[in-house]
Amino acid sequence: MSEAILDDVIEQKPDYALISGDFTQRARASQFEEAAAFLKRLPCPFIAIPGNHDIPLYHWPLRFLQPLRGYRRHINTDPDPILVDSEICVVGLNTVTRWRWKEGRVRSSQIKSTRKTWLSNADRLRILMMHHPPSEGFMKLSKILGEKPDLILSGHLHQGGATLHPDGPLLIAAGTAISNRLRGGQANAYNVIEVLSSHPHAVKVETRAWNKKSFESIAAQSFEGVDGKWKLTSGPAAVHIEVSSGHS
Ligand SMILES: [Fe+2]
Repeated sequence: MSEAILDDVIEQKPDYALISGDFTQRARASQFEEAAAFLKRLPCPFIAIPGNHDIPLYHWPLRFLQPLRGYRRHINTDPDPILVDSEICVVGLNTVTRWRWKEGRVRSSQIKSTRKTWLSNADRLRILMMHHPPSEGFMKLSKILGEKPDLILSGHLHQGGATLHPDGPLLIAAGTAISNRLRGGQANAYNVIEVLSSHPHAVKVETRAWNKKSFESIAAQSFEGVDGKWKLTSGPAAVHIEVSSGHS
């Protein structure tokens, strides 16, 4: 699967790869080494954040004392990375907490630094990436900030595709790229996000899924955002990635 997805990603000629965590199953060194070897073969720079599977679950001393040791060593020393170019500003937030393995949280220091980054990049498409999808609580925090991201990318749920949030931001969830631990009968999939225009904001989200031979486009959604409110301009309102969707 990793060879097939690499081949497909190379064909898409991406500028960046945005990876929303869960590089490993149990945060073991061998699993991180495998993930790092995969990342080295990407055809573009990547920005990544850790997922809950990237901290130890059963190794209690490590989980509580140095939960991100493996991640920092093999993936990235910075679990809250930032990427800025002339069109986009991506803020990655580490939402993993050692106390609650499955659930995430956003720390107040992260809110402060994110606000600062948004304010200094107000003219760019502002993309927030975090492993855990935003909860209602998070949306309230965003309101308190007074500055919301345009796009929110998340992982964790293994259900890909873009949906509109009534509060404004466009939510883009990652499917299961490589792992065979698939949920709800979904096929392996990933999203290709194309920035069509940064002023006014317009993006296309293409979901590419595994058809048991190769990755292929199964949905394309286009959205336009004005004053932080997005609307669907073409494509389905939600994407359903199914193993038995007619693919052989
Ligand atoms: Fe996860």
